[in-house]
Order: sequence, then structure tokens, then C-alpha cells
Amino acid sequence: MRFDTVIKGGNVVTPAGTFTGDVGISGEKIAALGMELEAEGAKVIDARGHHVIPGVLDVHVHLELPFCGTTSADDYRTGTRAGARGGVTTLIDFAIPYAGESLGQAADNWMKKAEGKSLIDYTFHICITRWKEHKDQIKGMVERGFTTFKEFMIYESEGWQSDDRALFGTLEKMKEYGTMLLVHAESARVLDELIERYHTPEMMERHGAKLHAMTRPNFVEAEAIQRAVQWCEATGGQLYIVHMSTGEGADIVRAAQARGVPVIAETCVQYLVLDDSVFGREDGHLFACCPQLKKPADVERLWQGLRRGEVSVISTDTCTFTREQKAMWQGDWTKIPMGMPGLETLLPLAYTRGVLEGRMTLEEMCAKLSTNPAKIMGLYPRKGAIQVGADADLAIIHPRSALRVAPDEMETNADWSPYEGWELAGFARTTLSRGEVIVDGYAVVGREGRGRWLPRTSAGLEGTRAEPVASRISRGPMSPLRAMDERETAAAGSAAGSAAGSAGGAGR
Ligand code: URP
Ligand code: ZN
Ligand code: ZN
Repeated sequence: MRFDTVIKGGNVVTPAGTFTGDVGISGEKIAALGMELEAEGAKVIDARGHHVIPGVLDVHVHLELPFCGTTSADDYRTGTRAGARGGVTTLIDFAIPYAGESLGQAADNWMKKAEGKSLIDYTFHICITRWKEHKDQIKGMVERGFTTFKEFMIYESEGWQSDDRALFGTLEKMKEYGTMLLVHAESARVLDELIERYHTPEMMERHGAKLHAMTRPNFVEAEAIQRAVQWCEATGGQLYIVHMSTGEGADIVRAAQARGVPVIAETCVQYLVLDDSVFGREDGHLFACCPQLKKPADVERLWQGLRRGEVSVISTDTCTFTREQKAMWQGDWTKIPMGMPGLETLLPLAYTRGVLEGRMTLEEMCAKLSTNPAKIMGLYPRKGAIQVGADADLAIIHPRSALRVAPDEMETNADWSPYEGWELAGFARTTLSRGEVIVDGYAVVGREGRGRWLPRTSAGLEGTRAEPVASRISRGPMSPLRAMDERETAAAGSAAGSAAGSAGGAGR
């Protein structure tokens, strides 16, 4: 078999196990895995001494988002360049209808933002912001290739907020179409009340950016997750909790999964490596994101949730604002543009703080950054794993060699980083997207506009198994995705070597 590209001698992470060997690429696809693949006439990429892992899917990204009175500072050019440098080969953004717009118009708007600019492949979650107008448009969006929808339980002032009626009705529709609803879960009215109580000149003078955390105690998130789970359980519609930040949230999701409720949880890497002590810093307002960073005990509980399986995905919620944009707060925490840069540092943080510090294995990291997000978002097996027939989306990382995070050397438009000065391993030495090298020697070389929109036909648990929902629920206390994580981890542990053995045949 002749290949266009052969990646030689890397430590290759596959669903069947991790092995030292080669990846053969023909056109845009992985064509073979094996030892000593024939490389005559092929471009050879030396991966000796490196991990070869599936390209990362960041399934929670906001590029060029009008929000908090300004527009987030990374667009599809800078955002996807940043992603590529961090081994991200697929992203999913959120298409949000502006006043009076339909779901289709929102998708068209986001298509325009991406076209001609994106270096990597992309698609969108479709945001439902006005239930009565949008409910009859959902089916058409499914037919157009969008299988994930989103509702916000807060953000009334942005015109995005959904009430229980919308959540309940949308989940019913998700059940009907086999699609999935993503929810930003925070308790709007309690949050409004707490903000109003603290929003005085004295309090702002005394506490500054710490008020961002003080007004969002954990029960603000927990109550909303509980309520969304209730509607999920009542309707049977698939629910995905975005950017879960609390230990209480993880407890609720775990208990619901044990009852067979089709709920999945995502956390973001910032909730795993930072806590709310940052708000006491001189520049603490820079770290305001929504939901906000929580306590060290939450950080520990989320890592535990990743290990045990109730947390299935790590993403970023990238929503970049520059120092100048963040300065809009002028001492009033309710005016801070909420969000942080993230695409460039997702993999380095997960690898350094997760794998190198012993909180997860390399295979577990690949499950949370690539395989699970691809399965849950209806992009598997095209994306999410190194296996024959998949898109050749790969990241090659050095196991230990670290770079110091320095904003002026980064691709993001942010002129600051939450991780400035941190030494992180796991930046991509090489990134391939559909067989094409887009990062070489840690530098972005990909052409903007080469990224493609990814149509989808499935999502959520529906997308990960063939059996009907009822038979899955009767399987017992472990959720299907938790079972999936544990099977894959066990397979990765026991099958090292056998992957190379069995896959070798494909290359001959
Ligand atoms: O701070 C954040 N996360 N900004 C983006 C909007 C959201 O809630 O995801
Ligand atoms: Zn959100
Ligand atoms: Zn978000």
C-alpha cells in the first residue's frame, strides 16, 4: 500500500490501545496503523520520542461573539490558528440568533464568520433564544445537518434566556428527533437577587472583582442543573450540561446517570486548573467568566468526576476579551466582559496538569478531549480517534518538553493569558488536519479558509450506540458513557501492543 504521508515511530494512542509505530495517511484519511509501514514516495514525519494523539475537538467555543456590550476578540482566523497550535482540529461554536432572526439565519451568520477564515473543521450548536418563534424551526435545522441545540437559563439582558417551558418543550423535541440540548445552567432569579443585594458603591469599593464569585454561590449552578435534569428525566430528551463548574453539579449528574437519565456533563479546563482565589489579584477582573471559577474542593471533585466518568468532556468555553475590553468594568463587576482565551492552552493544560501530574492517563485524556466529544456531538468515527478510515486529524506532542506561556508569542488575539508564565508541555509540535500539516515545529503553517463545515446526523447517547434508549436504561446503575469510558480505559491499558499487531495487517 502506498501512502501520501507516514508518521513514523511515535507512541500512537488508538481506541484499541497505545503502541509504538507508524500511521499511514492516504489523502485526507488514516489508511493504516502498523510497524515499519512502507514509506517510499511518501512524506515522512518523524514522531520518534513523541506521542501521536487524535486531534482535539473543542466543542464549546465562542468566536467573534457579540456579548457583554462588546465582541469577543478571537475570530475564526486567530481562534483557529490558536486552536491548531494547541492540537485542536475541530471546533464547535454557538450560532445565536440576533433580535428577530430565525435559527437558519443564525446558522447563516456563523457560516459567514467561519468561511474563508477557519484553518480547522467546524460546526455550530444552534441556540434557541425565543421558544415560541423557534420551536417549529428545529426540525428544519436537523434536516440541514445540525443535531445539537443550546439554551441559556440566564442572560435575559442579552435576549438569550430560556424559561422552563422552553427547556421542557425543547427536550421533548430532542427526544423526538434523537438530537441533544446543551444547557447553560444557572438560576437566573436567585442570581439577579444576589447581584442586586451586593450592587452598591460600598460593596464594590470593598470587594472589587471578588463580588463576581460572592454573588454566585454553588447553589446557583446546582439548582439549575437539578431543574434541567428534572426536565430531562421527565421528557427522555438528551441533555448536555455545558461548562459544569461545581462539585454539587457533578453529584447531581452522577446520581441522575445512575437512574438512567440521559444527561451528559462537560467541564472546562479552567475549572480544573484555577480557582476563585484569582479574584483577589490586582488583575483579578481579567479572570471573570461565566460561570465563574469555583473553590479548590470543586476543582478536586471535577477531576474525580472525570476519572469516575460522570464528566465526559473537557472543553474551553473560549470567549476572548483583551485587557482593554476587560477594562470596561471600571470597578463594577457586573460590567466585566465575561470569558477568557482557551483554545491554545486546552491540550497543554490537560496534558501537563492531568497526565504529567498523575490525575489521568494519556488514554483518558484522549477520551475526554477527542473521542467522547466526537461521539457525543455526532462526529464519530470521522473525528475523535486514530483508526483506519477516520480523518487524519492528529497532534504530535513531546512527552516532557515545555513552553512558557507568553501572550506575545501566542496566536490568540488576547494580550494576556490566565496562564501567563506557566510552563506547559503538550503544545503541538505538529498538527495535521485531514492529512495536511497545519502546525510544523510549533509554528502555524496552515492556510486560512481550508477548514470545512461538518454536517451531522446524530448526537448524544443516540449517536454512540445502536440499541434503543429503553434497553440502555434498563442496563443498571452505570450510565452508557461511564461504561464507555471505563471500557476504553481498560482496553487502552491491556491492549498496548495488540493495536500494532492487529492494525499492522491493514498496512501491508
Ligand atoms: O464567560 C463565558 N463563558 N462567556 C461565554 C458565554 C457563556 O456563557 O458560555
Ligand atoms: Zn454559558
Ligand atoms: Zn459558552
